[in-house]
Amino acid sequence: MKSYKLGVLGNPVEHSLSPKIHSIFAKQVNIQIDYQAYKVDESDLELFIKDFFKSGGDGLNITVPHKINCLNVADEYSASVKFIGAANTLSFDKSANKIYAHTTDGAGFVADVIKKDISIFNSNILVLGAGGAAQSIIPMIHEKKPTSIILDNRTPEKIQTVLDRFSLLKSDETSTGVQLIDLKNFSEHRSLTDNINLVINTTSAGFDGPFSWKEDIFTTKDTIFYDLSYNKRDLPTPFLSWASQYSDQCHNGIGMLINQAALSFELWTGIKPDTDIDENEIFNE
Ligand code: ATR
Repeated sequence: MKSYKLGVLGNPVEHSLSPKIHSIFAKQVNIQIDYQAYKVDESDLELFIKDFFKSGGDGLNITVPHKINCLNVADEYSASVKFIGAANTLSFDKSANKIYAHTTDGAGFVADVIKKDISIFNSNILVLGAGGAAQSIIPMIHEKKPTSIILDNRTPEKIQTVLDRFSLLKSDETSTGVQLIDLKNFSEHRSLTDNINLVINTTSAGFDGPFSWKEDIFTTKDTIFYDLSYNKRDLPTPFLSWASQYSDQCHNGIGMLINQAALSFELWTGIKPDTDIDENEIFNE
């Protein structure tokens, strides 16, 4: 039986849950995989990826800090990768001898949101943060036609950078009706009934002290909070500890992690795994 040679490449990568998740998928669909975590420095990145695929590798997940630079070794990019300028999954076509770059982060996020019955359509979505994680989810959120995607960031200048990058989405406004705006503009122009329906934290704020946010984020008791980060099961992230004063609808990023992994697994093997897996199993050593 074929064994797939797979892995995740990052630095640090020791605590990655991806090897565990992919081994659960492989067991579930009864295929053999060899999925390792590889700690690779920036300077060795291109050589490592080329050697991995030359020596029989089938697929790699790419994590921090290599999501942008891994594009230098790819031969082909998916439409989403071209748009956001970063990838989290590489696959190899042996007959064409080509490395393909994909991103499954945004689709993994949306898949989890749908599974949790969180509505994006016709909602006001606030994204906290303007880094790579924020940019990877914005196009997929946009596709689901919210009323608006509102951005806020500790360094306000970076909001404009993201708005400029996504001007393509903005120019789509007339056809989709989705507005992509700075929180400042939302607060100035909102009517009394305009509230935020979903707050998504893409920042690492709070990991060196309690989370807090300087702006009023116009929530109600029905606002849902979603953190792209996660902690060990049953321990809320700093963002979700903070959010729990406003809402009891709080979600961490484990579901997104499982769903983005499932989409990568499917790209490599052609098999769609069941994402309904026991989180305890992921955290078991
Ligand atoms: P990633 O690829 O994970 O998004 P990144 O590109 O380095 O990482 O972006 C990190 C994000 O977290 C940024 O929006 C950053 O805000 P700044 O643009 O102001 O740096 C945000 N962030 C990190 N630490 C933060 C903190 N203590 N408070 C608020 N925002 C923080």
